[in-house]
Amino acid sequence: MSSLFLQSEIENPYSFYQKMIEENPVYWDETNKIWAVYSYEYCSAILRNTNSHVPAFPSNRDLNRFAVEIIKNLARLSDGIQHEIAKETAVILFSNMKNAGIDVIMKELLQNKKEINWVDLVCKKLPVLTVLKSFDFNDADSNFIVEKIAVIVKIMQPNKTVEDVNIINEVSEKIYTITENHIVTLSFYKTLIEKISNNYGISSEEAISICICNLIGLFIQSYDACRGLLSNSLLQIFSQENSAEIEIDKNRIQKFVVETLRFDPPIHNTRRVAVEDISLGEITIKKNDFILVVLAGANLDSKQFINSMIFDPERSNNHENLTFGTGGHMCLAKYFSINLTADVLYYLLCNYEISILETKTEYEPMINARLPKAIWISLLNNKI
Ligand code: HEM
Repeated sequence: MSSLFLQSEIENPYSFYQKMIEENPVYWDETNKIWAVYSYEYCSAILRNTNSHVPAFPSNRDLNRFAVEIIKNLARLSDGIQHEIAKETAVILFSNMKNAGIDVIMKELLQNKKEINWVDLVCKKLPVLTVLKSFDFNDADSNFIVEKIAVIVKIMQPNKTVEDVNIINEVSEKIYTITENHIVTLSFYKTLIEKISNNYGISSEEAISICICNLIGLFIQSYDACRGLLSNSLLQIFSQENSAEIEIDKNRIQKFVVETLRFDPPIHNTRRVAVEDISLGEITIKKNDFILVVLAGANLDSKQFINSMIFDPERSNNHENLTFGTGGHMCLAKYFSINLTADVLYYLLCNYEISILETKTEYEPMINARLPKAIWISLLNNKI
């Protein structure tokens, strides 16, 4: 039984996760030589354990210096002191984001459209555009980054094809340069560089590079996961069981989004490697063993969530889902992502009558994320 599969090939991964929680909450997958962890308790324990690190990327001598620099400096990919520096930088950058105004972006994207592919038109663009606008990037630079973001996120794949490497190299240099030129115009820039270089005793050149890379990191991290949350939340709102329930109420929509994060999350798993032996109940994960942390499994653990297989926006602890991770690497954009999705859906429901034009959703061929490829909807009776 393989713990690794493409989301495009499995109609319902959730019943498999539930079976694993009951029968094999910590499972040695001999084919893939990886431990797969499914229960809430053990997924949390791994993510909080300082002896579980983010696996290192195999080195790739064909990547150019810009791509190598980005990979080296990202908070998401580092551990130890490097992670501390990168995380602090990312948190400061993130806390300096202005409110970008979802309504304006939505209005521009949907202008005069009657039938749209929600995924291509909104989900793949709006989160990255929001981040770019909150840092005041101009239209030309924003458009370039939005157009190339799907290429740059390939930097996060451990194994890259020759073709991937070529396009990553091409785009990395331009994105690095755009970000480098823009970051100096930000009001908090000087203070940030001084703080990071003084606190950690590193040169300002190093601190500058860490800032540039982690700002690029915010674009990268906002792409796939937010795309999936915007897609899956819309599908949940309009699914047979739930459509009768939804009212156009911001608070109610927010609860739908949080329950979607638990019940049908965009990110299904993340990986770690044990740097020392780790005990989970009776089982010992040996030093150097790889671990698949099945976040989407933990979210269905009935020890944590009552009637876990039922979509219930009113369950009192839905926000305890593990979709944003936990521990040192936990996502810093949890509330940002929830609010962004709720605002977008609220805008959509307030301004349009929507119908979904297809019944069967296909998913991207990815192992770690469950992302609808397309969702065609019609926008009727524009209420604007
Ligand atoms: C639905 C939306 C999102 C989901 C589900 C999500 C999920 C996650 C998860 C699971 C991790 C931890 C990975 C691990 O522990 O291995 C993470 C880390 C991170 N996320 Fe998010 N994310 C979302 C949106 C965003 C956005 C919009 C941003 C930035 C604007 C962002 C920035 C980050 C950063 C910088 C990290 C690395 C933190 C660290 O390693 O210390 N995320 N995210």
